[in-house]
Amino acid sequence: MSKADLIVGIQWGDEGKGKIVDRLAQEYDVVCRSQGGHNAGHTIWVDGVRYALHLVPSGVLNPKACNIIGNGVVLNPASLIEEMRQFQHLEGRLFISDKAHLNLPYHAYIDQAKERLKGEKAIGTTGKGIGPAYADKISRTGHRVGELLTPALLCESIMETLASQQAILDALGVSLPSKEALLEELEGYKKALAPFVANTTQMVWDALDAGKSMLLEGAQGTLLDIDHGTYPFVTSSNTVSAGACTGLGLNPKDIGTVTGIVKAYTTRVGHGPFPTEDTEEAGKTMADVGKEVGTTTGRRRRCGWFDAVSVRYASRLNGCDQFALMKLDVLDGFETVKICYAYMLDGKMIETMPSSLENVTPVYEEMEGWGKVAGVRTFDALPENAKRYIRRIEALCGTKVGIISTSPDRNDTILL
Ligand code: GDP
Ligand code: IMO
Ligand code: MG
Repeated sequence: MSKADLIVGIQWGDEGKGKIVDRLAQEYDVVCRSQGGHNAGHTIWVDGVRYALHLVPSGVLNPKACNIIGNGVVLNPASLIEEMRQFQHLEGRLFISDKAHLNLPYHAYIDQAKERLKGEKAIGTTGKGIGPAYADKISRTGHRVGELLTPALLCESIMETLASQQAILDALGVSLPSKEALLEELEGYKKALAPFVANTTQMVWDALDAGKSMLLEGAQGTLLDIDHGTYPFVTSSNTVSAGACTGLGLNPKDIGTVTGIVKAYTTRVGHGPFPTEDTEEAGKTMADVGKEVGTTTGRRRRCGWFDAVSVRYASRLNGCDQFALMKLDVLDGFETVKICYAYMLDGKMIETMPSSLENVTPVYEEMEGWGKVAGVRTFDALPENAKRYIRRIEALCGTKVGIISTSPDRNDTILL
């Protein structure tokens, strides 16, 4: 029997999960997504070609790997169908849980209408209907992928749900499809997706029982977790490692090595507190050099220094065995680099994560920068100051760095 290794975002998402899953997927039989939806944007570069994945697991570029979209995902069929067009021969190597919940166009309209109404207090969601789709699931008014196999029944059922929510939808100004249009849409989804719908819970058990190797691909990041993130500026799923169990039907004993994906600095897209944000020259340089533009929404990401307080917290929450330290090359050429090792809150210095980051200010230490790590492929070839930066992160966060990434390319990756 084997265990499932896990990749989890440690900050506010976009740490580089896609690159690492793709790099490691060459050695795995099965790659699974367990939560989130098409709010995720995972970028992979292979031989100068860019792939942006939203729902399809990042193992898809390994033709031998089987890819599973688990029950914890909220699935937008139109987005998935569009994404699947980039790849050939997916039948037999892509499976979607029949228990995953549907994220349909009206969820996005509700999401966008609610954000508009919130005005200045908006979360800055991706507008993809993630919150409303999960809200339907938790309210037990959701619809599941398995129901796509009987479109007429599903259509009836959705119309009933919408009728029961009519007053709210009217107040939000959300217009709904006619029954005929909805049925036609659902029939199209069935035609495209029926061959991929499966009992993936049993599949993941069978795979582990047969000794197959399995990699679980987290979406978003720990600080966006619905319970443990910077609420309410979070997403609507459990992004921490524990969420991968419920999102696939695994138990905690099924989990093997946990790798936390950490950027060498910090980014955030959308609103909410960000103690180490740098709105001056340094942050602008990080954004430009790191090409920090959202993969899903094209929004510019906010940038700032490495925050060891929140990373240490995230490492403990996820049970990280190691970190993959990403985008170290983006800090190339900085004369000095800063690490936040504590916060000031109400006049006191704290080194642990408070339940809100609204009123904290960062306490920094400063280190000498280094020349160039871009494209470096061995640890020994890294400049001494870059090695010192890595060792300092390990010491402050209590987790060893096992992987270092020095460019977007699959091959510019140091495995220690
Ligand atoms: P994900 O959501 O965690 O998969 O990350 P995204 O794909 O949204 O954002 C990470 C971005 O950084 C992508 O454009 C990657 O191609 C890029 N990237 C990943 N690793 C590195 C690296 O080590 N150096 C540089 N310069 N870019 C990287
Ligand atoms: P990947 O998997 C970065 C952010 C949004 C917003 C908040 C809520 O690529 O790392 P939502 O649409 O989920 O209700 O938005 O969460 N967000 C992400 N930020 N990377 C992501 O995914 C994200 N998915 C959602 O910007 O602040
Ligand atoms: Mg992303």
